[in-house]
Amino acid sequence: MTTTHLVYLNGDFVPAHEAKISIFDAAVMLGDMVTESTRTFAHRPFKLEQHVDRLYKSLKVTRINPGLTPAEMTELSLRVLDANLPKVTPEMDVWLVHNISRGLSVAGADPTIQRSPATVIIHTAPMVLTDWARFYTEGCHAVTPASRAAPPEALDPRIKNRSRMAYTLAEMEVKLVDPQAQGILLDIYGNVAENKGGNFFIVSEGVLKTPPTRNALAGISRSTVLELAEQLRIPAQIIDFQPYDIYTADEAFFTSTPYCIMPATRFNGLPVGDGAVGPVTKALLQAWSDLVGVDIVAQAQSQLSMTR
Ligand SMILES: Cc1ncc(COP(=O)(O)O)c(C=O)c1O
Repeated sequence: MTTTHLVYLNGDFVPAHEAKISIFDAAVMLGDMVTESTRTFAHRPFKLEQHVDRLYKSLKVTRINPGLTPAEMTELSLRVLDANLPKVTPEMDVWLVHNISRGLSVAGADPTIQRSPATVIIHTAPMVLTDWARFYTEGCHAVTPASRAAPPEALDPRIKNRSRMAYTLAEMEVKLVDPQAQGILLDIYGNVAENKGGNFFIVSEGVLKTPPTRNALAGISRSTVLELAEQLRIPAQIIDFQPYDIYTADEAFFTSTPYCIMPATRFNGLPVGDGAVGPVTKALLQAWSDLVGVDIVAQAQSQLSMTR
C-alpha cells in the first residue's frame, strides 16, 4: 500500500512528490493566493460546505477565477479525500487544504491581470496534533507581540489568504518572550484581533466574548463555538476587548480548525483566572467532541504518547 497522498493539481491527480508549480506562479511571485483548511473527524469532513463557501467569497473579493464551480470544487475535494483517507489509520484524521492562486505572473507587468488559468491545488496531510496536545489540559501561554494586526483598511482579514509575512514576524516576537507561547495580535487601537491561525475568546463572569470580524477572520471554529455556546445556554457576546479584559478574565482560549479549542491559562506572564483550564472551556470542548463523535483531547494526547 502506498502512503503517498494524491494531490489534485490543475485538472490532474498526481502523487504529492510530483505536484509541482511554476516558479513564476503568482503565489510565488506575489503571495497572491487564497486558501482554506478543513479537517476530518473520524474520516468525515467537518463543515466542508462552509469552507468552500468562504473560499468562494475570498476568490470573489480577490477577483481570482478558479475555473470551477463550488459544486465541482466540493466534488474534487471529496475525491481527494476518498483517495487519501485509506492511507491513514482510523485514529488519524487529515487536513484538506485548498490553495488557489491567480496563475502565472510576469515580473514587472500589471499584477491584476489573470494571465493563465488559476493554479488550483487540493491536498491532504495527516492531522498531527502533537504541538497542541498538552495545552488541552495545561493551557498555553498567550502573548501579545509588539507588531499589530494589519488594519482592515489595508487588507480585509476575512479574505483567507496566503500572504502570511505579517503574522509570521509577529509570532517571532511572541516566541522571543516564550518559545511555547501563542500570539494574540492587537489591532492598531489596542483591541484584541486574532492569532496567526486562530480566533480568540475570553469568559468573564459566565459570559463568553469574542471580537467582531472587523479585525479577524470569520473562523468556522469560532462560529462552531458560538453555536455550541447557544446549545449549552452560555451567554455570548461579539464585542471588542483589550488586554486588560484578558488579564481579568476567568478563562481564555483560541479556536482553529486543527485543534478546535486551545485553552490559554497564562497571559503575558500572569495567570488567567486561577491558572487552570476552566469549566466553560471544558464544557465547550466536550460538546464539540460529542458533536463530531471524536474525543478531541484524547485523539491529540494519544499522538503525544506515540511520539514519546
Ligand atoms: C488568521 C486566521 N484567523 C483565524 C483562523 C481560524 O479559522 P478556522 O476556525 O476557520 O480554522 C485562521 C485559520 O487558519 C486564520 O488563518
